[in-house]
Amino acid sequence: MPDAEGLKEAKQFYTDTPQKTEGFFLKGSNAYDWGLKNRLARIFNPETGKTVMLAFDHGYFQGPTTGLERIDISIMPLVPYADTLMLTRGILRTIIPSSVTKPIVVRASGGSSILKELSNEEIAVDIEDAIRLNVCAMAVQVFIGGEYEKQSVINMTRMVDLGTRYGIPTLAVTAVGKQMARDARYFRLATRICAELGAHYIKTYYVDEGFETVTAACPVPIVIAGGKKIPELDALKMAYNAIQQGASGVDMGRNIFQSEAPVAMIQAVRAVVHENETPEKAYDLYQTLKNEMGK
Ligand code: R5P
Repeated sequence: MPDAEGLKEAKQFYTDTPQKTEGFFLKGSNAYDWGLKNRLARIFNPETGKTVMLAFDHGYFQGPTTGLERIDISIMPLVPYADTLMLTRGILRTIIPSSVTKPIVVRASGGSSILKELSNEEIAVDIEDAIRLNVCAMAVQVFIGGEYEKQSVINMTRMVDLGTRYGIPTLAVTAVGKQMARDARYFRLATRICAELGAHYIKTYYVDEGFETVTAACPVPIVIAGGKKIPELDALKMAYNAIQQGASGVDMGRNIFQSEAPVAMIQAVRAVVHENETPEKAYDLYQTLKNEMGK
């Protein structure tokens, strides 16, 4: 037992130094509880306020997508360079070693395949399993303008309620409804609905015209999906423009894992997201790393 004698004199209360009360670094996120904020602070780098999420959950509705046929071989080399991994619980349990400490965003909605109406999803992960998997967020697809719009919105609000109970954020993933154009007006509508209904952050697509109005009108952080594979320089330009226009990061899949040199590409994306590197300089980095690796 420690000796209590003499300890009183050694105490230092710093009575002339007020305790600091720091605001939380992430847009719109100051009023959450500690655990939820802590999970967000693992997803988003507190130094830069940004994240590079590596998305490889595509198999949940389209099976073994090109580049994801063997996740153990194609994705594992990318893991050290990602801030966050977005995937299904099936791939998490079967492929990703539990020694990996990267924050996990688990795909939490599903139920339809590419053979059917995609908007007909339900919540596909129990909150208890999300907790068991120690995830940092749960991702739910929201189909504004889609056939099952309401069902998908309620999936999201249900996940927000469940996640908030346990301090787990919900990522709303805006899928493009068939009836609506993929433009700033649509994404302002979709992202704002998700935020108003409680999503903690939102994944959407970049648009060339007016993307800054999408981020401005959305009170929580936005990350952009990469979309279909495009040339590396174009993907870097898209990421750069999105960051400069208010995005808090990327949730990129195909433009990384379908790249000719995925390990080089993810590092180039990091430079754009975390260091505000120009697309041209990031592309030089990509080429240099690609040549060094011999592929
Ligand atoms: C697609 O359904 C998934 O949610 C992906 O995580 C998302 O689209 C991002 O991947 P990509 O950059 O390939 O579009």
